[in-house]
Amino acid sequence: MRKAINKAVFPVAGMGTRFLPATKANPKEMLPIVDKPLIQYAAEEAVRAGIKELIFVTSSSKRAIEDHFDKNYELETELEKKGKHELLRIVQEVVPPDVTCVYVRQPEALGLGHAVLCAGPVVGDDPFAVILADDLINCNGNHVLGQMISVFNDRGCSILGVEEVPPEDTDKYGIVDPEESHGRITHVRNIVEKPAPADARSNLAVVGRYILTPAIFAHLENIPRGAGGEIQLTDAIERLLQDEQVLAYRFEGKRYDCGNKLGYLQATVELALEHPELREAFLEYLETEFGSAKKLRAIND
Ligand code: G1P
Repeated sequence: MRKAINKAVFPVAGMGTRFLPATKANPKEMLPIVDKPLIQYAAEEAVRAGIKELIFVTSSSKRAIEDHFDKNYELETELEKKGKHELLRIVQEVVPPDVTCVYVRQPEALGLGHAVLCAGPVVGDDPFAVILADDLINCNGNHVLGQMISVFNDRGCSILGVEEVPPEDTDKYGIVDPEESHGRITHVRNIVEKPAPADARSNLAVVGRYILTPAIFAHLENIPRGAGGEIQLTDAIERLLQDEQVLAYRFEGKRYDCGNKLGYLQATVELALEHPELREAFLEYLETEFGSAKKLRAIND
């Protein structure tokens, strides 16, 4: 029997400098897409995939995340008193009662690998998921972590969520050196953090979803600092590959890079167009205001 994936790690200690000044006093993971913060999309994806323990790796400027997933008695009492039952339900359902949130501090900004290592004592000796909330993946109900857990249940090894990126963008991602592929699954020969386009072995990029075996922790403890002077998760996965199989999984769904402004705007527009209360009015607004390319170009002329 495979061990079930019950725990997901959310590294959320990063500074979010690409969104300053919005992120001066607010965590970037609390930026909303329509009406939900990015971190809630990530948490909901995990919960839908059956995860029971959400482990947030935070820093001192991220307290709003703890508050978001905690009970807010004052707000709930007010909503109750005013008979706003639908809003009360929305607030109460941020985390289901059978799901636990755990917070671990990352005392120094030493990178993604270091953040995952900080979660080690809570994860223990079980396989686990890592979700980067910046990478919002819209799967029309078939959530990407759920897809990856199905692959894990079948294959029992570490799984990396990947997609093809433009070849000139390889220096923004962990890039897979692929072996043979079967459908959505590709065997990983090697992986390199942010190679220059000329050095990249493919354009298959890891995008913010990982299922890892606990053997990763020994490697995270022992690797030297890598790209950007940080402890890189990618470098630990490269070491893991020497002992274990690692598979890349081309997930089904559309990914938005909400760590940059353009991706954030695209997610906002496209998710607003899927929102049951907003869709019609927003479509009408877009058609009236920007019905033709000419009109779009005229903005700010
Ligand atoms: C991190 C990882 C990188 C991965 C990327 C996905 O980079 O280090 O391997 O491809 O997330 O979004 P970052 O975006 O934090 O620079």
